[in-house]
Amino acid sequence: MMWKATELKYDPDPVLEHALDVLFILHADHEQNCSANAMRAVGSSEADPFSAAAAAIAALYGPLHGGANEQVLRMLREIGSPENIPGFIAQVKDGKKKLMGFGHRIYKNYDPRARVIRQIADEVFKVTGTNPLLDLAMELERIALEDDYFISRKLYPNVDFYTGIIYQAMGFPVEMFPVLFAIGRMPGWLAQWEEGLLDPEQKIARPRQLYTGYDERSYVPMATRSAAQDADVDAIAAQAAHAAPERPLR
Ligand code: CMC
Repeated sequence: MMWKATELKYDPDPVLEHALDVLFILHADHEQNCSANAMRAVGSSEADPFSAAAAAIAALYGPLHGGANEQVLRMLREIGSPENIPGFIAQVKDGKKKLMGFGHRIYKNYDPRARVIRQIADEVFKVTGTNPLLDLAMELERIALEDDYFISRKLYPNVDFYTGIIYQAMGFPVEMFPVLFAIGRMPGWLAQWEEGLLDPEQKIARPRQLYTGYDERSYVPMATRSAAQDADVDAIAAQAAHAAPERPLR
């Protein structure tokens, strides 16, 4: 459908077909990740599944979630060649950058999906030819896994570290990466949505919130604001600050 739309018969390469199947299966469901949580929250208001899935897709699209594979590719392009890796890692350690495709809220000992995907990458590259970005990714992974910053924080490659490079080698444009993730995740989202719908005990999602902000705050009344501008604005600000001291948010 993407490359051979006008041909009556098209046989995809069985290795690539298998790789895509494995990637879809690996992405199918993953308990209460950000997008599944969005699906359940929206579904709990009894919205239709299309709307709930749209919310899930929006959540998935973020660079910290399913948008990460696209960011990995952009990061690798930015690094450019292996000699730039130490400089990039230094920026990550300074908090100026994130190592995209690394880290996971739940997996603190390597993402098991990444291990499978790494193997798939080898199979795909045997068909498509190697890619300098893959060599760069492997070197980046090697250096990061030996660095105390990543070891002490238990940061390992996640599912998104290699998927972008695989999709790119298969010929998918970068904008399709989150779409591919969403296709794979759709059965899981729908199962989560249906589970909620069929659960007689399901109620509308409604987390509570603990307000820790200001109590009463002073302000300059509207009628006196223009006059206040002529007066000593700093003094008014200082007075307001005194009346409502800054309180740290917990
Ligand atoms: N690069 C550099 N430092 C990191 C990274 C990273 N990728 N991930 C976490 N850290 C640091 C973070 O700065 C913090 O350091 P410190 O203790 O000095 O403040 C420490 O590790 C703990 O991080 P955290 O923010 O508490 O971790 P989290 O569990 O809240 O976040 C994450 C998980 C996936 C959002 C995060 O690791 C991240 O942003 N990774 C990069 C984006 C990415 O690859 N996302 C895909 C996630 S897996 C599949 C999916 O959901 O789609």
